[in-house]
Amino acid sequence: ADTLLTGQSKAGDWRSYERVILPPIKDLHQIDVYEQNGGYQALRDVVKDGKYDPTGLTNEVKASGLRGRGGAGFGTGLKWSFMPPVDPEKPRYLCCNGDESEPGTFKDRQIFEYNPHLMIEGIVLACYAMTIKTCYLYIRGEYIEYVDHVQKAVDEAYAKGYIGQNILGTDFSTDLVVHYGAGAYICGEESSLMNSLEGKRAYPRIKPPFPAQKGLWGMPTTINNVETLADVPLIVNRGAEWFAGIGPEKHPGPVLYGISGHVNKPGVYEYPTGMLITDLLEAAGGARGGKKIKAVVPGGSSTPPLTWEMAEPATMDAETLREAGSSMGTAGLCFLDEDTDMVSFTRRIAHFYHHESCGQCTPCRDGTGWMEKLLHRIDEGNGYTRDLDLLLDLCDQMEGRTVCALADAAAWPVRWGIRRFRDEFEAKCKPTSFAGADVSGDGAT
Ligand code: NAI
Repeated sequence: ADTLLTGQSKAGDWRSYERVILPPIKDLHQIDVYEQNGGYQALRDVVKDGKYDPTGLTNEVKASGLRGRGGAGFGTGLKWSFMPPVDPEKPRYLCCNGDESEPGTFKDRQIFEYNPHLMIEGIVLACYAMTIKTCYLYIRGEYIEYVDHVQKAVDEAYAKGYIGQNILGTDFSTDLVVHYGAGAYICGEESSLMNSLEGKRAYPRIKPPFPAQKGLWGMPTTINNVETLADVPLIVNRGAEWFAGIGPEKHPGPVLYGISGHVNKPGVYEYPTGMLITDLLEAAGGARGGKKIKAVVPGGSSTPPLTWEMAEPATMDAETLREAGSSMGTAGLCFLDEDTDMVSFTRRIAHFYHHESCGQCTPCRDGTGWMEKLLHRIDEGNGYTRDLDLLLDLCDQMEGRTVCALADAAAWPVRWGIRRFRDEFEAKCKPTSFAGADVSGDGAT
């Protein structure tokens, strides 16, 4: 457990943390309020006053250590540097991914609602860094009211000359198009998102080629999450060193934690990365009804559940969570108390992935269905202990065998749910007492 704490816990000083992504300022979504609080100064400094040229800005973002906040945690500056040199014959694109649909993840929604201009400013800065003239902001289709809200903010930014032709009177121009998501979880997978924008069915594409090589309409493209881009003006205003100094060295910065489950005050909390999970529980008002917490899903439904013993010493950063046996994902933590039925919980997650599998790859299309059926019959008391091994075998047949990560995401909660809470699963199973035990799936649904 000691080694887990080398991830530099910020335990203790989190109470005095001052929010920067979602500061407590009334009506910050209005452009004049945003400007009065220093908004669009970063854009002015860079685009108008030449604080950085495009390469300089990319290097500053690299130096900040910013890692993508959509779930995978890939280095943002590094991703930007994959864009090929400008070719006047080829358009190039930025896609801002706001299709957040991972169960337990609801943080980008807060940016849309409370601080959309921070994201818009970040988008324009990213376009400047990569010499991009068009950005598509892809917002989850179900977030209907936020699409209208964000569109209003975009219109305001256009009217003030922060987006569009000759931004702030310079020769830099870029457009921002807000696009409704097509209503499926898979649309948030970056290559599906591009197919969806192109008007096609949102099937994931095989990578490589990565989007910088061949992206939207086959052109160089970068895809960044909403929160990731919202961090960029902060880095310009306060410097890479400031950002890199928050939280653990390898995974720094402020982060929006989405906290759900059996806590008194579920919601979105902004704190540094590297927070102890126990501190986040405290920040969210502790466990509901004074119950004991039994398990934590640390980063959205696809991240393996941790037992409380594993979660207690862990901090919320990629390295520590990997060491602890899970991953940071979207930093959407779900706390589960002692009364939680882990079989029902796992079955509910399996239902989600079965429903959302796009059906392109057989191991995912059929595997998620099998998984749900097996979990259903175990949950109903009709399963056998050998079904647990069948489920683990199924995970082996799915993981790493499909075009995108959805099959992996479906397999992990099942694999680690069974491994870490096997007693609970076995307690719901009939013993496998004869060779011909029913594994056909009959009576499963
Ligand atoms: P990934 O690791 O394949 O890619 C992450 C990013 O890095 C992508 O933009 C990819 O193009 C880039 N990248 C990776 N390797 C590269 C290379 N060698 N060269 C150039 N670029 C490279 O992960 P993926 O599939 O994009 O995302 C998986 C994560 O998404 C999961 O960990 C999960 O936490 C998260 N997720 C988030 C959701 C949400 O609602 N925010 C929904 C579902 C999943």
